[in-house]
Amino acid sequence: MRSTFGDGIHVAIIMDGNGRWATSRGLPRLSGHRAGADAVRRTIESAPSLGISVLTLYAFSSDNWRRPRNEITGLMKLLGRYLIQEADRCVANGVRLEAIGRRDRLPPALIELLEKTERKTAAGNRLLLRLAIDYSSRQAILDAAAKGGDLSQHLGPDVDLLIRTSGEQRLSDFLLWECAYAEMVFTRRMWPDFTREDLAAAVEEFQRRERRFGAVTARTA
Ligand code: IPE
Ligand code: IPE
Ligand code: MG
Repeated sequence: MRSTFGDGIHVAIIMDGNGRWATSRGLPRLSGHRAGADAVRRTIESAPSLGISVLTLYAFSSDNWRRPRNEITGLMKLLGRYLIQEADRCVANGVRLEAIGRRDRLPPALIELLEKTERKTAAGNRLLLRLAIDYSSRQAILDAAAKGGDLSQHLGPDVDLLIRTSGEQRLSDFLLWECAYAEMVFTRRMWPDFTREDLAAAVEEFQRRERRFGAVTARTA
């Protein structure tokens, strides 16, 4: 499915490396997640001016429930706090927030905050911010298939550019269907260190790539 939101590109980011960023500084993993929230803020702020109209951020995977209880609780609190702090800024900047993933296993207070922020930002038309929380792409595909009809209609827009930080080069159950023809950029930068310049560099790299979608180009025909 093509994005119907704006005429910019759809960038999806696997925000990885918060834990290692913290551990390498002798800090608890949660400090890394806290610093990661600042990188999220920077990224959202820079996205529209870099030609991005849809941004999907992987915040918490369904497999992340396997982490220690205190890290999960800390992450959920951090997500809630982020929504409270950023909702007004989103409205002011035309950012529309939408959560993807399962909601039924999240703390009730966070579900309420997500719904409230979605309502509050619903008129935003500069950037569609899709926050993946308790998200599993395999599960999303199964759910879409159960609805019947055109699978793409029930899933998100096609990803143009997928970025993963921290040096890992895998999808970790993120947007498997939507990334069918995504260009991928992997950077060694840990997520808390990710800057506007890193995002701009990834977008430039994307623009240099030749996308063929299975066809041949004038150059090779
Ligand atoms: C990404 O950073 C954030 C989440 C998965 C919530 P990690 O917490 O995975 O950081 P590393 O990979 O352990 O360094
Ligand atoms: C993927 O990162 C999930 C998020 C960034 C939210 P992980 O750190 O959980 O992935 P793996 O375990 O290294 O594959
Ligand atoms: Mg990780």
